[in-house]
Amino acid sequence: MARILTGIQSSNIPHLGNLLGAIIPAIEMSKDPANNSIYFIADLHSLTSIKDAEFRRESRYAVAATWLAFGFDTDRNILFKQSAVPEVCELTWYLSCFMSYQRLQLAHSFKDKSENLADVNAGLFTYPVLMAADILMYDTNIVPVGKDQKQHVEFTRDLAEKMNHHYQQEIFVVPQEKIDENVMVIPGTDGRKMSKSYNNFINIFLPEKELKKTVMSIVTDSTPLEAPKNPDTDNVFALYKLLGTPEQVADIRAKYLAGGFGYGHAKTALLELILDKFKEQRDAYNRFMNDKAMLESELKKGADKARAIGTPVLDRVRKATGF
Ligand code: ADP
Ligand code: TRP
Repeated sequence: MARILTGIQSSNIPHLGNLLGAIIPAIEMSKDPANNSIYFIADLHSLTSIKDAEFRRESRYAVAATWLAFGFDTDRNILFKQSAVPEVCELTWYLSCFMSYQRLQLAHSFKDKSENLADVNAGLFTYPVLMAADILMYDTNIVPVGKDQKQHVEFTRDLAEKMNHHYQQEIFVVPQEKIDENVMVIPGTDGRKMSKSYNNFINIFLPEKELKKTVMSIVTDSTPLEAPKNPDTDNVFALYKLLGTPEQVADIRAKYLAGGFGYGHAKTALLELILDKFKEQRDAYNRFMNDKAMLESELKKGADKARAIGTPVLDRVRKATGF
C-alpha cells in the first residue's frame, strides 16, 4: 500500500485550472486500491501570505467543499486541515534543528518570493521545513507536486535520511516526489495560463449569471460573425476542447470552419457545456457551502485519522532525540 500525500493551498475557491490540472487527477489517483491518499488544506502555510482571518476560513471551506463535490472518498482516504494537527509544528522544530541554514537560503521558491513580495517574513523562509514535517509526519511514500515544489520534497528526503542516519534507526519513511511532466496547462480567459495571479480564471461554482459574465469576457479576435474562423487559435474553443466529448468538439469545430457562427454563439455553447458537465458538482458545492457543520465534521473525521497516523511517528522522533 503506497501512501500518497499532498497539500493544497487554501487561497481562494479552486478554479477550472486547479480542477483539471490537480484536483481531478488527484482524485483519480486516490481511486487505485493500492493507494491510500492523504490530502490536506495547507492553512498554516497560507499564513505566510494571507493575514485575513475571515478569508482564510472561507477559503478553507471552499477547498473542502470542492474536493467533496468532486467525489473524493473520505471514508477510504483522508481530507483534513493542516492546523487541526498542530503537532506538525512540534515536528517542524525537530526538523529545523537538522536543516542546514545555508541550504534553506538556496531554496528557489524563497528566492522568487522574496524578490517579489513586500512581506518577506521568517515563515516564508522556513516554509520548506513545515512542508517536510507535513510529509514525514504521515509516513508518506509519494508526494505528487508541481515542478515548483520538487526542491522542497528533495529537502524533505535529505532531512529524513540525515536524521535516520544520525540516530541509526528508521525514524522516517523516505518519500519520493511525483512530478507529472505532461500535466495540461489550462488556458485562462485571456489565453495565458489560468491563474489567480493573472485574474483570468473561471470559477465554475459561480451563480449562472456571474459565470456567464466570466465566459463572455473570454478574449477573442475580431473576425466578423459570418466569416469562417480558425478554432485552433481561439481561446473559447481551447476551453471547449478540454471539456466537451469528441462529438461535441467535432460539431463546434465544424461550425467555426463553416462561418455564420459568431464568438457569442461559441461562448454560449461553452457556458452551456460547463453548466451541464458540472451540474452535479455545482449543486453539491452549494449544498456543502450551506452546511458548514457537515464540512467541519468531515474535516474533523480526517484530522482524527491523520492524528492517529502522525502520533506514533512523532513518538519515534521524540524518543530518538531524547525527549
Ligand atoms: P494559481 O496559479 O491560480 O495560484 P496554484 O499555484 O495555487 O494556482 O495551483 C494549485 C494547483 O493547481 C497546482 O498543482 C497547479 O499545478 C494546478 N494548476 C494551477 N493552474 C493551472 C493551470 N492553468 N493548468 C493546469 N494546472 C494548474
Ligand atoms: N507548498 C505546497 C504548494 O505551495 C503546498 C504544500 C504544503 C504541500 N505542504 C505540503 C505539498 C506537503 C505537498 C506536501 O503548493
